[in-house]
Amino acid sequence: MKVLIVGSGGREHAIAWSVAQSKRVDKIYCAPGNGGISQYAECVSIGAMEFEKLADFAKEKEIDLTIIGMDDPLVGGIVDVFEEKGLRVFGPRKNAAIIEGSKSFSKDLMKKYHIPTCHYEVFHSPEEALLYLESASFPIVLKADGLALGKGVLICNTLEEAESGIATLMFDKQFGAAGETVVIEDFMTGREVSVLCYCDGTHIKPMTSAQDHKRAKDGDMGLNTGGMGTFSPSPFYTAEIQKICEEQIYQPTMDAMKAEGRDFVGILFVGLMLTEDGPKVLEYNARFGDPEAQVVLPRMKNDIIDVMEACIDGKLSEVDLQFEENAAVCVVLASDGYPEKYEKNKKISGLEKFENKDGYYVFHAGTKKTEDGIFTNGGRVLGVTAKGADLKEARRNAYQAAEWVSFENKYMRHDIGKAIDDAE
Ligand code: GLY
Repeated sequence: MKVLIVGSGGREHAIAWSVAQSKRVDKIYCAPGNGGISQYAECVSIGAMEFEKLADFAKEKEIDLTIIGMDDPLVGGIVDVFEEKGLRVFGPRKNAAIIEGSKSFSKDLMKKYHIPTCHYEVFHSPEEALLYLESASFPIVLKADGLALGKGVLICNTLEEAESGIATLMFDKQFGAAGETVVIEDFMTGREVSVLCYCDGTHIKPMTSAQDHKRAKDGDMGLNTGGMGTFSPSPFYTAEIQKICEEQIYQPTMDAMKAEGRDFVGILFVGLMLTEDGPKVLEYNARFGDPEAQVVLPRMKNDIIDVMEACIDGKLSEVDLQFEENAAVCVVLASDGYPEKYEKNKKISGLEKFENKDGYYVFHAGTKKTEDGIFTNGGRVLGVTAKGADLKEARRNAYQAAEWVSFENKYMRHDIGKAIDDAE
């Protein structure tokens, strides 16, 4: 069969790798793709937001399944456009992707259906938000309602920081319409865990857990990024916690979306905080995490196409989802200066060292391929993933493999998975 993947990051590279393992797939396209994805897929220069062009391409090439990797096209309604044209596509429709596209929608959903989360308030005007902040206790979390390139969540330690956040989002409108409404919520403490779940509208099956490291610098310091590295599984997400999540969070979320007439088909990413009072939802996303996909997919035993088709056909209950009994760690190699100012166009060497090395992967994010080789082309450049018998071994292997790659201004955190030591 022929598969089209929409997206261009490390997540889409991990999806392309996973699709390439399927015996059912003869040809993969990726739009727009990147230098690394071209190893498995023919990259097509159509942007992820060009829905009509993508659908025309899928028709012309007789694509059997299109997989949407990114949040923007999902929230924008790409799945609806494909379905209207009779094309088979994996991802939630616009009315379900709103679970990621509007923070106030997701908080209201949790409140209405008693899904554990923290206290929050929604504000449509900066004056009301500022008034509320005057009597709030800090730290507090300020969230732009809409998608804001991963930069719409601000943790404010003081009233001054919160006021400046309101100015950025609501007065200066730095993220446009995404910041016209804000959610202000209590700050939760505990361990963060990401659980990506396959969903068929009725049934939900969680994959193995993962943990991201969002801050730019070691010790969780510095600015928020798209994610500087991950490990899987999380030793803090025990079987007992998983059972609570299944009963109180995962299935209730599926049922709530169905009750609202917004059946969710695709990947539901549940961002959890394991608090002293039990697991609570931090956020929902409507797609694979990046770089969570880079540690979860290499550990999945199932054929990804079988699972995705079961989701589309409402037959997920028939799938026995299985993961390897090992661990994986992903270290992101970034351009020094990310997420602020950084230089691009640096030649990358050492990528060939990953060829034919079982359990080692280099997923491309911000790279470009030219006649002279592969060059850096973004903030997050590569994700180096390695597996191991346990988390400690996977971590050692990932950091060893991260040294195989060189480029000028290469930057990485050195403490990805350090939390594993705390679990002992
Ligand atoms: N790693 C966090 C995200 O994908 O949103």
